[in-house]
Amino acid sequence: MRLDRHLGPSAMREALEADVRAGLTAAPKALPPKWFYDARGSALFDEITRLEDYYPTRCERAVLAEQAGTVAEHTRADTLLELGSGTSEKTRLLLDALRGAGTLRRFVPFDVDESVLTLAGKQVGEEYPDVEVHAVVGDFERHLPLLPTGGRRLVAFLGGTIGNLLPEQRTRFLATLASTLTGDDALLLGTDLVKDPARLIAAYDDPSGVTAEFNKNVLTVINRELDGDADLDSFEHLAVWDAQNEWIEMRLRSLRDQVLHLRALDLRVRLAEGEQVRTEVSAKFRREGVAAELAAAGLSLRQWWTDAGGDFALSLSGRT
Ligand code: SAH
Ligand code: AVI
Repeated sequence: MRLDRHLGPSAMREALEADVRAGLTAAPKALPPKWFYDARGSALFDEITRLEDYYPTRCERAVLAEQAGTVAEHTRADTLLELGSGTSEKTRLLLDALRGAGTLRRFVPFDVDESVLTLAGKQVGEEYPDVEVHAVVGDFERHLPLLPTGGRRLVAFLGGTIGNLLPEQRTRFLATLASTLTGDDALLLGTDLVKDPARLIAAYDDPSGVTAEFNKNVLTVINRELDGDADLDSFEHLAVWDAQNEWIEMRLRSLRDQVLHLRALDLRVRLAEGEQVRTEVSAKFRREGVAAELAAAGLSLRQWWTDAGGDFALSLSGRT
């Protein structure tokens, strides 16, 4: 397996420092969700995908199982490039379909967490010995133009991870991604759909507390990397539905007045009792909105598929 690093340990650390300093000195306080994902965070996310209440993975897998053959026929891709690839578990359905169509040559998983990336990349390499695996560590908000080019590429962005970007970040992300695609390339995008808020909240606040642990993992990352002293027990996990923006927000609520000391940043952060730090938005979509956002980036929606319950959508698009 080939591994390219656009984010080595020192660049990663610099980016974390900048995000934490900006986010924890802002009002209201916020941290970007990419910092959940160290080895522990990726393992916790994997656990989330198997929770009864967390329907997105199950629903997206159902759509992929049904439509992967059609995707392979339409795209005839020789390269499958996966953004925010994680364990690449559902991706096997696409790899199988492209291999079945006889076009697959190369798999390019791309993730900010090197630990999950190398594990998944090696496993795919063993399971698909005829496929060249070229793993890339990077940030999809910064490094899209550096992704391997050539051939017919299918870019898969699954899981609804696009919903973890704020609207302006999403606009920039889609425009940059579109600018890297040629007329032969295609984008397969997974988007979670707007639904009953009670189901959404249950999906982000499971009774077993795995999502709470995932949310608090950002504090563990900050403590370890920035020599911080955050006490995880002094925060509680919140999942809130924002009806106006149609997104779920995960927050960490301070249970007491406290001061966090981040020695590596020489920064003290005061938190009042009840003060909330936003750690993630997870936007939920409608077909018209996805089509409009793609169109604004110069991409045409060609196919739209959902699972039987209409909970999760996969769309296939290409350069207009
Ligand atoms: N695609 C998988 C995993 C989704 S979890 C699925 O559908 O189940 C989100 C993944 O995106 C994690 O593996 C995380 O490490 C990665 N990620 C989050 N922010 C990222 C960023 N800015 N750049 C690259 N990868 C990112
Ligand atoms: C990765 N991403 C699409 C997940 C989501 O549903 O927004 C992350 C997650 N956050 C809480 N649970 C899962």
